[in-house]
Amino acid sequence: MDSHDVQADLKHVLYTKEQIQQRIAELAAQIDKDYEGRELLIVGVLKGAVMVMADLARALHSHVSMDWMAVSSYGSGTQSSGVVRILKDLDTDLMGKDVLIVEDIIDSGLTLSWLKTNLESRGTASVEICTAFRKPDAAKVELDVKYVGYDLPNEFVVGYGLDYAEKYRNLEFVGTLAPHVYE
Ligand code: XMP
Ligand code: MG
Repeated sequence: MDSHDVQADLKHVLYTKEQIQQRIAELAAQIDKDYEGRELLIVGVLKGAVMVMADLARALHSHVSMDWMAVSSYGSGTQSSGVVRILKDLDTDLMGKDVLIVEDIIDSGLTLSWLKTNLESRGTASVEICTAFRKPDAAKVELDVKYVGYDLPNEFVVGYGLDYAEKYRNLEFVGTLAPHVYE
C-alpha cells in the first residue's frame, strides 16, 4: 500500500519507500563488508521484521541463512516490560554461529536486550543487532545496536512491518497515524 491508499488515516509520512530502500542498501553493503568470509545467520523477529528481513536479505551480495523467532513481551498495553516469552524458537543450532538479529523497531530496548542475551547463551560466535528504526528517546537500557536504519521521534508509528491492531504492516513507508484512527 502507498500513502494514497491510506491518506485519510495518516498524520505524517516519516520515511518514504525510497528513503527506506536506500538506507537498507547502505546497511547491506556494510554487513557484506563486516562479515566477509564468514557464514552469517540472520534472525528475524516476527511479525514486524518480515519486511526488513525480505529487503535486507535481497540487498546483500553474500550468502546468508535465515531463521525466525516470535516473542511476546509481558506488560500492560503498548509498554514493553522486558519479561519475554518465546512463542516460536529458532530451528537452527546456534553453536559457533555469527548471528545478526533483524528487528523492525527498538523502543525501550528491553525486548532486544533480553533476546541478545538469550541467543548469546547458546554458544554463538557473535550476536549483533540490525534494526530498521529506533526511538532513541524511549531507551530504557543500554543496548549496543550495530546497524540502525533511521532514528524516529518518540511517537507510535506504523508501516513497513509495524502495525496498529494488525493493520498497516503492508505500507511501503513509515508514518504516524491521525488521532481519529486510535481515539
Ligand atoms: P521494546 O520496548 O522492548 O519493544 O524495545 C519493541 C517492540 O515494541 C513494538 N513497538 C512498536 N510497534 N509501532 C509499532 O507498531 C511503534 O511505534 C512501536 N514501538 C514499539 C514492536 O513490536 C517492537 O518490536
Ligand atoms: Mg517487533
